[in-house]
Amino acid sequence: PLQAAFATRLIVWQRSHGRHDLPWQNTRDPYRIWLSEIMLQQTQVSTVIPYYGKFLARFPDVAALAAAPIDEVMALWAGLGYYSRARNLHRCAQAVVERHGGAFPDSPEQLAELPGIGRSTAAAIASFAFGARAAILDGNVKRVLARVFGVEGFPGEKRVENAMWSLAESVMPGEQASGDDVSAYTQGLMDLGATLCVRGKPDCGRCPFTSDCVAHATGRQRELPAARPK
Ligand code: ADE
Repeated sequence: PLQAAFATRLIVWQRSHGRHDLPWQNTRDPYRIWLSEIMLQQTQVSTVIPYYGKFLARFPDVAALAAAPIDEVMALWAGLGYYSRARNLHRCAQAVVERHGGAFPDSPEQLAELPGIGRSTAAAIASFAFGARAAILDGNVKRVLARVFGVEGFPGEKRVENAMWSLAESVMPGEQASGDDVSAYTQGLMDLGATLCVRGKPDCGRCPFTSDCVAHATGRQRELPAARPK
């Protein structure tokens, strides 16, 4: 069954066909990874890249960001949108300094207690920075899982979302996976959803899961994941 082979096949695919040169890759600095994940929550990669560079130049570490006036943070964020992210960014930096002595915690549970960090973002940071086995589930990942495994229902509905979290947990790499494997797996899910298993016209010919994909087998790539019920 695909469930058992999913993680290893995704890791192999990521290593030869995934993205490896984004500015927040090739680092294990949780500050840099956290900053990128917050910016990428509602904004596309090409828009984020220049902002990411500007922020790191002005605020090279979490202490610098925590000590900055909020007005300066907001001014640097201007143009990225969803401004509550910038307020939470500043509050999170201050919480890391005050609660954790300036070092990001390494567990997804503790990360998720910080301002602006939800369950999926916490898991992404923990896996990229600390090699933690933790499932992510953002919009792209919901699309990949819904199609490959044929998950029915609107993913914005709590019952469907809960089922997807369980599925996301069950297809993760096993306990024997290294930290590098875990990072490649998490990045692979993001990359597959962003580059091949896209919303409009997925590139099934290049996908490592075509032969097992429920949506491909039934020609329902456009119907999965299901749209919000009218
Ligand atoms: N979207 C969210 N996190 C990302 C990442 N680490 N790389 C590329 N796109 C992303």
